Amino acid sequence: MSVSASATPVSGPLTLTVNGSARTIDVTRDTPLLYVLRNDFELNGPKYGCGLGQCGACTVLLDGGPARSCVVPVAAAIGRETLTLEGLGTLDALHPIQRAFIDEQAAQCGYCLNGMIMSTKALLDRNPEPDDADIRDALRFNLCRCGTHIEIMKAVHRAAEYLKREQKR
Ligand code: FES
Repeated sequence: MSVSASATPVSGPLTLTVNGSARTIDVTRDTPLLYVLRNDFELNGPKYGCGLGQCGACTVLLDGGPARSCVVPVAAAIGRETLTLEGLGTLDALHPIQRAFIDEQAAQCGYCLNGMIMSTKALLDRNPEPDDADIRDALRFNLCRCGTHIEIMKAVHRAAEYLKREQKR
C-alpha cells in the first residue's frame, strides 16, 4: 500500500516555541517532549522520574497548563508555548515562586521541585489566592517521596504573597 503524499511525515524539522524562543529540531514526531527538552535543548529543569505520566517530575507548562512532558509527543507542542523551569527565573533573578520554595526550604532531595514549582505557577496564574484545598488539588499529581508536603504548602502560600507584593509595586 502506498503512503499518501499528504500524510504527516513521521520525522523532519519541527519548530517549537520554548521559553519564548523558537527552536528547531529534527526528530521523530512521537519523541517525548521531555527527551527533546533535556537531550537536545539542554533544559534540565524538567526531570525524568517514572516516564509514565504518574509522578510529575517532568512537568512543563503548555500554553499555561501543566503537562507531563515524558508522555507528550514533541509534535503536540508545535504551535504552543512551552515553558520550562528555566523560563521562570535565573540564579541571579529568581522567580518569586522559586524564591518562596527556597525561603520555606521546601525540598529534601529536590527531585520533585521542578514539577511542584511549575504546577504552582499554573495554579497561581489562574488563582492568585489559593487556600489549602486549592493547593492540594493543584499539586495532587506531583509526588514527593521525601515528605516535605507541609513546607511545600507553605511555599505556595508564600509565593502567592510575593507575587501579590510585586504586583503592588
Ligand atoms: Fe513524567 Fe513521571 S517522569 S510523570
